[in-house]
Amino acid sequence: MIRKARIDDVQVLNSLGEKLLANFTKTYNLTNYINDKNYLILVNEDMFINGFLLISENASAYELEAIFVLEEDRQKGIASNLIKYFIDNYYQNHKDIFLEVATNNIKALKLYQKFAFEIVNTRPKYYENIDAYVMKRVEK
Ligand SMILES: CC(C)(COP(=O)(O)OP(=O)(O)OC[C@H]1O[C@@H](n2cnc3c(N)ncnc32)[C@H](O)[C@@H]1OP(=O)(O)O)[C@@H](O)C(=O)NCCC(=O)NCCS
Repeated sequence: MIRKARIDDVQVLNSLGEKLLANFTKTYNLTNYINDKNYLILVNEDMFINGFLLISENASAYELEAIFVLEEDRQKGIASNLIKYFIDNYYQNHKDIFLEVATNNIKALKLYQKFAFEIVNTRPKYYENIDAYVMKRVEK
């Protein structure tokens, strides 16, 4: 089941986030984001929360900040469902959606391409020594 995150999910989300990024809690303040209308956190909860999607929004665009699924639950469509849920329920189609992804993160690249994201730019050494692609969703 996909739903919006609540304040009592923050601890679990931070521990998932730390698996994605060592400095996750320094980079993302989920406690503040829960009540901030410029952020959206969606969780996938089966027996417990096993995946999340974090999106920020400004006047003209969304930014897909982070998406994570627990390793043992990958390749079951959870990330796809989270993105689809966002597009179906929250996305206002006059706005662009951007994201950054490490050029060597093939799984994520494939996921984003499945949702019509295209590479629009490259940021050299964005993740320490690894370049990032900037991707933008191009509606077909
Ligand atoms: C990237 C990630 C979120 C995908 O989650 P997931 O729930 O396994 O993804 P899905 O099952 O919805 O798969 C969606 C698509 O992603 C691609 N994909 C997923 N796993 C893949 C793999 N092991 N190899 C190749 N492509 C893969 C495929 O295109 C797949 O579509 P398909 O099943 O129709 O072929 C997950 O691997 C993850 O959490 N990785 C670590 C965090 C991360 O890198 N996040 C992105 C940067 S913030």
